[in-house]
Amino acid sequence: MHGRGDMNRSAIGRCDSDRMVELANCMEVCQTSIVPSQDVQDVQLARLPPIDKVDIAEVCIKPTSRAPIAEVQGQVKRMLEKRNLSYANGPLSIAQDGEPFLFEHVQSICICDADEQGSNGVLLFWQVNLKIYLYQLNDEGPGEETEETEGISSFQEWVLPAREFFGLWESLIYDTGLKKRLLQYSETALLFADKGVDSHLVSWNRVILLHGPPGTGKTSLCKALAQKLSIRFNGRYNQSQLIEVNAHSLFSKWFSESGKLVTKLFYKIQELIEEEDILVFVLIDEVESLAAARQTALAGSEPSDSIRVVNALLTQLDKLKSWKNVVVLTTSNITAAVDIAFVDRADIKAYIGLPNLQACYEILRSCLKELLRTGIISLPMHAGTKEVDFLSFKTLIHWSTDSEQPCAEEESEASFHLSRSLLATAQACQGLSGRTLRKLPFLAHATLANKLICDCSKFLLILADTAQRELSERSCT
Ligand SMILES: Nc1ncnc2c1ncn2[C@@H]1O[C@H](COP(=O)(O)OP(=O)(O)OP(=O)(O)O)[C@@H](O)[C@H]1O
Ligand SMILES: [Mg+2]
Repeated sequence: MHGRGDMNRSAIGRCDSDRMVELANCMEVCQTSIVPSQDVQDVQLARLPPIDKVDIAEVCIKPTSRAPIAEVQGQVKRMLEKRNLSYANGPLSIAQDGEPFLFEHVQSICICDADEQGSNGVLLFWQVNLKIYLYQLNDEGPGEETEETEGISSFQEWVLPAREFFGLWESLIYDTGLKKRLLQYSETALLFADKGVDSHLVSWNRVILLHGPPGTGKTSLCKALAQKLSIRFNGRYNQSQLIEVNAHSLFSKWFSESGKLVTKLFYKIQELIEEEDILVFVLIDEVESLAAARQTALAGSEPSDSIRVVNALLTQLDKLKSWKNVVVLTTSNITAAVDIAFVDRADIKAYIGLPNLQACYEILRSCLKELLRTGIISLPMHAGTKEVDFLSFKTLIHWSTDSEQPCAEEESEASFHLSRSLLATAQACQGLSGRTLRKLPFLAHATLANKLICDCSKFLLILADTAQRELSERSCT
């Protein structure tokens, strides 16, 4: 057997249990409201009503830091009070001169969930109750459980929050508040379980099914959600673990081995969830394999075995429901093919579709910013010395439709025109999956004769051409 059979226990020791307790205790006291002075409030409230809104700052502490958690929390709070007139989603920079303590101990501060309300996606500080979540990333990487004789990889496990998934949630872009809905649903489900709500009286479970076309980020979203919840619940649970099961591997050609794999998998899960202070996420990827397994069974060779395995899996999943510290996340490409018995078990069935125009724009925007950061592409010559940047989709649309409001001072006309070109490129990309969109800049760059430097505007045109080629190749196949 290769892997980390006892990863859960060793990780508690390894992750410095005192540190974990310190983080957990701190969560009780670091929920804070930022309240400006009364006269400032009076003027402000006359113009804008307060919003009953809790906002989140997630603070990632450097792995090397041993600073007292309460001290970090206090410093973050002071920094936010001092610096922020408004909150928008995204990372906050930490200045070496201004905040030397935070610069030394904090890797990142990220404002979350601020985009739903407020004008222009920005919330002003008196409209917000701020919650601060502190966490440290786990650097260990995945532990893998493989079958002794055949070398079949049955599942992988991570201690969360894991470095691999850092920034994953923010990188996934969907419209219509999908991520927020999933997060809120999961938070409520865990809270109900934790408070011991009687499921005979109020019915709910902790099974989520994400389904939709390939490459739309379903697996990534499940992992990112688990990571997010591990951060949000680190005041309640000492540790979180993600177990990723590839359902397909359970129903490989080794049908006779499948029963053993399922048993072993659930033995592992059982071991974990018996520890009440561990939050366990079970990710079953490509769950349609269950249905495929049944069909194969009906058609042929080893019916009894594979049906038994599917049933065993469903029974085991049902048993998990009685444990309050487990969330089951599942994905499927082909919803119609997912075993109906399984679909019934999922509380939330979210369709994850191809990115719409706004999502295409924002995905490409994040790609281009990365290429600009690394110097692979450059800003247009005519931009001169002005601060040129791609505008957010919301700002671009706002400016495009509001004739009263030409380009604001701090963001130049060049930004506006560049962003309009990006919008045209995003339009040409509609119909592509998120996975292809993230690959597109690479494919486009590969067509360049001179790879050393490429002007941003020119690159946008090449991107649009590449997108068209991808789309037409797809329609031919
Ligand atoms: N909406 C999106 N926003 C940003 N990136 C996305 C989006 N959708 C997909 N991606 C990118 O595509 C990559 C692949 O996503 P992932 O493997 O999670 O998709 P999937 O839906 O599980 O695919 P499959 O159905 O083939 O298993 C992600 O790492 C991400 O970079
Ligand atoms: Mg997937």
